[in-house]
Amino acid sequence: MSNHRIELDGVELTLSRPDELNMQMVGFYDLQKQLEACWLSLEDGDLPLVPRLLGRPGVGKTTLAYAVGKKLSQEVYIFQCTMDTRPEDLIITPVIGGGNSNASKSHAKLTPEIRYQASSLVTAMIRGGVAILDEGNRMSEKSWASLAPLFDNRRYVESIVAGLKIKAHPDFRCCVTMNDDSSTFEVPEYIMSRLQPQIYVDFPNQNEEKEILRINLPYAEEALLDKMSAFLAHAHQFGEPFTSRDGIHIIRFARRIHHLQGIPLDKALEQAIKNVIGEDALNYLNPDYQPSFNIMNDFWGQDTYEEDEDDDELV
Ligand SMILES: Nc1ncnc2c1ncn2[C@@H]1O[C@H](COP(=O)(O)OP(=O)(O)OP(=O)(O)O)[C@@H](O)[C@H]1O
Ligand SMILES: [Mg+2]
Repeated sequence: MSNHRIELDGVELTLSRPDELNMQMVGFYDLQKQLEACWLSLEDGDLPLVPRLLGRPGVGKTTLAYAVGKKLSQEVYIFQCTMDTRPEDLIITPVIGGGNSNASKSHAKLTPEIRYQASSLVTAMIRGGVAILDEGNRMSEKSWASLAPLFDNRRYVESIVAGLKIKAHPDFRCCVTMNDDSSTFEVPEYIMSRLQPQIYVDFPNQNEEKEILRINLPYAEEALLDKMSAFLAHAHQFGEPFTSRDGIHIIRFARRIHHLQGIPLDKALEQAIKNVIGEDALNYLNPDYQPSFNIMNDFWGQDTYEEDEDDDELV
């Protein structure tokens, strides 16, 4: 039986393929260490932790998890969670194949063939890989419930469809990424209590930002990298939520406009900022700009505003 198919308690399972992505990471040294620490097993019987990586969309959570996973393991599997993810999608799904022709020519009959497809999570559990449950808080409570035993000392999942109880390999590691996108469900408390500790991914500083832009856009002009990293750092001082992902999109678009329309690069950058994050953001290109209010962005969507005691204006 090929590597791709295995037999477990008499049931043949088709495994998923690991993710091989061209994802390079710079910075995040402390966070890397925190995640590595979670996945460390200090002695026999010492179970690894299943942390949740929190942060705004586009700040680098998946990149961090993937890079640390690759560093520690040969195989990393990303499971993209959505609001439509069903419990069986997380574990094993039956797939009806084309069928076998098993009768004589005159009475040719097609018998539907049922294949059991292991999810990327279960494949990581079986092969001892790293599983990243990406954007976990998009999933409903029903789907989370099937993972409760996996995230405590039982370390197994049950597949109703295949009639299997699957135990995680000792090398299996897992983390969940979550952002504060409003289109998500509440993750139940009993699951949150298993997804510990929290690792909070914050905005990088200006130098780190420049290196992040550079590694993703190695062909981009130095002047663009400088301007964009200064712009993002300035905006973050005032709690604006623009991320490296926005910066990458802006530079990619600016270079295209420059190329196609012959507009100078700095003008093209302005146009791209407008298109990607909106006109108001252009103010942050001016290093002296200070907004009339300071969004003290708390994580998890609670924006707090500091009130000026003298005149009730927002500062
Ligand atoms: N430290 C980093 N090193 C290299 N690239 C980075 C880093 N941080 C962010 N990026 C880049 O920024 C983009 C967004 O990163 P990523 O997809 O990891 O964010 P995320 O936090 O998972 O976002 P979401 O919540 O939307 O899933 C990617 O293109 C990634 O390459
Ligand atoms: Mg992500």
